[in-house]
Amino acid sequence: MSHLIAPSLLASDFTRLGDTANMLNRSEADWYHLDVMDGVFVPNISFGLPVISALRPLSKKVFDVHLMIVQPERYIVDFKHAGADILTVHYEASTHLHRTLAAIRNEGMQAGVALNPHTPVHLLEDVIEDIDLVCLMGVNPGFGGQSFIEKTYQKTEALRNIIDKSGSKAKIEIDGGVNSQNAPKLLSAGADVLVAGSFVFRSENPEETIASLKRV
Ligand code: DX5
Ligand code: ZN
Repeated sequence: MSHLIAPSLLASDFTRLGDTANMLNRSEADWYHLDVMDGVFVPNISFGLPVISALRPLSKKVFDVHLMIVQPERYIVDFKHAGADILTVHYEASTHLHRTLAAIRNEGMQAGVALNPHTPVHLLEDVIEDIDLVCLMGVNPGFGGQSFIEKTYQKTEALRNIIDKSGSKAKIEIDGGVNSQNAPKLLSAGADVLVAGSFVFRSENPEETIASLKRV
């Protein structure tokens, strides 16, 4: 299967959310990456449930919701109602990760786990079969537009091995600092999904930039 592209709303113009949804509908984007931040787990606050609910009827795309919040298990049902298709929690924010993943799947969503740059991929070995998506952070979460951390290539390869050996169907998503320069290397390292925020939305023609990432 060819790789998937998930433009991140965080880098888009918040005064034109409807126009952005229409542009993404026309584009080759596969998923809509939605970054929820609480000002506690990460040093920034972005947007939350009402914005996602408002966007849901405007979008034909899969909603890939990335929770950068403490105790994410408190909000699983709420994000299902808001329209999330994939719900990703941080490893570092989830004390009972196994239970949280089961609860996400129980709501009919795909269950994702995100790893901060300092968190080793082998920590997922015992839970890999309960995961649909592993989101490897290419930057420290909290802000768009940061530069890519090179170590992410090795982590992608190591995670690819863990997943392939286990027989898990989990996809590998790379989030943060992705651009047309590092995309080919990330895909050869084993990535399945590329999130792109500023590279898409700060470009002259976001729709064409999405198409170009699809052609990598
Ligand atoms: C960072 C977010 C990312 C962010 C990526 O905390 O999780 O999804 O929007 O933005 P870029 O692609 O600009 O690094
Ligand atoms: Zn994200």
